[in-house]
Amino acid sequence: MTTRRRHLLELASLEAGEITELLDVAESFQDITHRRIKKVPALRGMTVVLLFLEASTRTRTSFELAAKRLSADTLSVSGGTSSVVKGETLVDTARNLAAMSPDIVVLRHKHSGSPHLLARSIDASIVNAGDGGHEHPTQGLLDALTIRRHKGRIEGQRVAIIGDIAHSRVARSNIAALSKLGAEVTVCGPPTMLPHGVEALGCRATSDRDAAIRGADVVMMLRIQKERMTEELFPSDREYALRFGLDRAALGLAKPDVLVMHPGPINRGVELAPDVADGPESVILEQVANGIIVRMAVLYHCAGGAGGDT
Ligand code: NCD
Repeated sequence: MTTRRRHLLELASLEAGEITELLDVAESFQDITHRRIKKVPALRGMTVVLLFLEASTRTRTSFELAAKRLSADTLSVSGGTSSVVKGETLVDTARNLAAMSPDIVVLRHKHSGSPHLLARSIDASIVNAGDGGHEHPTQGLLDALTIRRHKGRIEGQRVAIIGDIAHSRVARSNIAALSKLGAEVTVCGPPTMLPHGVEALGCRATSDRDAAIRGADVVMMLRIQKERMTEELFPSDREYALRFGLDRAALGLAKPDVLVMHPGPINRGVELAPDVADGPESVILEQVANGIIVRMAVLYHCAGGAGGDT
């Protein structure tokens, strides 16, 4: 097995300069999305396996589109239709896929650390597309890119991340990326959804929604991840919406040019009032669009295209 493969497993272990370089490469792919023929030959002849063993809409489709726009061959394997349902282990599934010599495996899995395990087990570049409650590095990158495009820079931006911080891989990747790039990040949620010691990741923490939003440049709302909870952590959706949801009144505390973000899928009326989700401050669909160029940059990087080893 070669060990010189480039992976993208997490943002926590990247340097600010490596993150900025991936964002710059993503920007350089932007003009392709406006062309009539949205394709470049950068990954021609390469095979990208999309191994999605947990539910996904945006991430899977945008990785697929990203790979196709770079001219790679793609192979999709998803949870319900693979032999994982017959009890095959992740490493066995991956070894069998590796026998087909893929260049890159994009993995989404419910267990934290599964992409790291794969990177040690098979000879392919591994891209983490979300591992349990650990990290979702391409989401962190596309969120950083969305903020940078609107605000010109990330340094000094006040970013409030509100919701189920404890179960959110999106929160972890965003805290890592945004704090390394010089933003002031505050996470907010009910005490039951704020992991103990989260400040050590490079952010402030509070359970006071209004304090988190006051003066914010960016408000990023997160979904309550009921599928990851082993017990009830809040009384009701209605109560949650009142204390931790984002409605127009609460948004009024932020800066006038605030950006409203959400990784999707949205629970409308729970963490986000519909008029805010669809309002002029919302960049939620831009996040989706930026996801394609960010994933092109990551695949290009893993294929050996740009920058140093990560
Ligand atoms: C997120 C995820 O799967 O971690 N969604 C996404 O990738 N766009 C967030 C979520 O599921 O709430």
